[in-house]
Amino acid sequence: MDRARLWLGLLLPLVAALDFRYHHQAEMEAFLKAVARNYSSITHLHSIGKSVRGRNLWVLVVGRFPKEHRIGIPEFKYVANMHGDETVGREMLLHLIEYLVTSDGRDPEVTHLINSTRIHIMPSMNPDGFEAVKKPDCFYSNGRENSNDYDLNRNFPDAFELNNVSRQPETVAVMEWLKTETFVLSANLHGGALVASYPFDNGVPATGTLHFRSLTPDDDVFQYLAHTYASKNPDMKKGDQCKNKMNSPNGIINGYSWYPLKGGMQDYNYIWAQCFEITLELSCCKYPPEEKLPVFWNFNKASLIEYIKQVHLGVKGQVFDQNGNPLPNAIVEVQDRKHICPYRTNKFGEYYLLLLPGSYIINVTVPGHDPHLTKVVIPGKSQNFSALKKDILLPFRGQLDSIPESSPSCPVAPLYGDVPSHSAASKPSLFLFLMTIFYILFK
Ligand SMILES: *[C@@H]1O[C@H](CO)[C@@H](O)[C@H](O)[C@H]1NC(C)=O
Ligand SMILES: *[C@@H]1O[C@H](CO)[C@@H](O)[C@H](O)[C@H]1NC(C)=O
Ligand SMILES: *[C@@H]1O[C@H](CO)[C@@H](O)[C@H](O)[C@H]1NC(C)=O
Ligand SMILES: *[C@@H]1O[C@H](CO)[C@@H](O)[C@H](O)[C@H]1NC(C)=O
Ligand SMILES: *[C@@H]1O[C@H](CO)[C@@H](O)[C@H](O)[C@H]1NC(C)=O
Ligand SMILES: [Zn+2]
Repeated sequence: MDRARLWLGLLLPLVAALDFRYHHQAEMEAFLKAVARNYSSITHLHSIGKSVRGRNLWVLVVGRFPKEHRIGIPEFKYVANMHGDETVGREMLLHLIEYLVTSDGRDPEVTHLINSTRIHIMPSMNPDGFEAVKKPDCFYSNGRENSNDYDLNRNFPDAFELNNVSRQPETVAVMEWLKTETFVLSANLHGGALVASYPFDNGVPATGTLHFRSLTPDDDVFQYLAHTYASKNPDMKKGDQCKNKMNSPNGIINGYSWYPLKGGMQDYNYIWAQCFEITLELSCCKYPPEEKLPVFWNFNKASLIEYIKQVHLGVKGQVFDQNGNPLPNAIVEVQDRKHICPYRTNKFGEYYLLLLPGSYIINVTVPGHDPHLTKVVIPGKSQNFSALKKDILLPFRGQLDSIPESSPSCPVAPLYGDVPSHSAASKPSLFLFLMTIFYILFK
């Protein structure tokens, strides 16, 4: 009798299925709170701030240690509905939450994922916009912008030109959130197209705009990430399914080559938050009827899971000084893929670098010392749920654990502003000249 009741108690949370319809703020909150209660050991619910109209910006964290970062466990995030009228991603993330928590301990893949990853899920970055939509529409409707009429995906600082807009509370909340964790990989979910789009969204000739694109030094990784998502989505992988004449073979596209935009969230994540982010457009129709939601879930479930796993690409570890103390704020970059704002170790001395299999030189830089180079070989693809682990011991003497956060500082925006576009014609030859010198010196 008692045992039967115990079993019933254990099983009950598992049978409660989230329905396939749109959940407004109050229902979404109730669902998130119920999940946080029923699965308290693997979830942590918190609000990162409030919208213009005072609605909470909820984030549910799923992981074996959901409340705080653990050394070696990378931080991953999904953000949806920053355009309030693009609604599929919002519901997909609620279903993803349900799938993760109910599969823990039952499905080996999800259990591995929860053991090895801290997954942050924000179903709505623009709850005011979602509530403002009066008549659901496949195309633009009111509700795309926040309550002050700002497009949140044009509201971030921009690396390439001055973005002199009033920073909105939702944007500020996300910018502050990014400072609190070392996010490694992320995606933001949109609608109105069916494609996985990767940085940059804006650019200058130095990033390739003369060729109608704008590429990062990590372009191989970004194409792989976008392809990972698109290839598991039976519709997206076909490319140009919305008949909007975009050149997106296999369902992936460079953001700039699709259309340039200023102040987007994905460029901001990559440049200022050390986090690789792509933009996922999940539905031709921005706000489809809710009868379509089960099909969208079927088509996105495998992609959503597979994409989270990519946070374990490449190499990770801690940087220590000669005395064995972890070293925060040391610059850790891969040779030939320098970031314009150098990526640094976090307060535990950790670094995470997303890389495809191959040989790389890791360059650790500490002010006042010569760069320390370490060779790593990233093995071929494995289902290991861990990047290659490589701790780096610096052979330096003295106390190094107090490197000032701003040395050398990340330049003030716009970072690429001093690259004049009219000098572009001379660029290729300068580039070739530098490459030749590089080749002579380092090969
Ligand atoms: C949480 O558990 C209660 C009681 O077992 C159940 O009624 C409810 O549906 C569950 N909700 C979720 C979201 O798991
Ligand atoms: C996940 O972690 C739990 C608790 O630490 C452990 O019991 C379990 O064996 C792990 N499972 C997998 C698949 O890693
Ligand atoms: C930014 O915009 C404000 C208000 O429109 C204006 O006063 C200010 O001069 C602008 N700043 C720059 C650097 O353009
Ligand atoms: C290592 O990084 C430093 C600082 O960013 C740079 O000056 C140096 O050229 C790099 N060395 C190599 C071999 O990449
Ligand atoms: C598997 O993961 C461990 C760290 O948990 C790592 O040390 C090892 O090299 C990985 N193996 C492969 C084949 O990637
Ligand atoms: Zn959008």
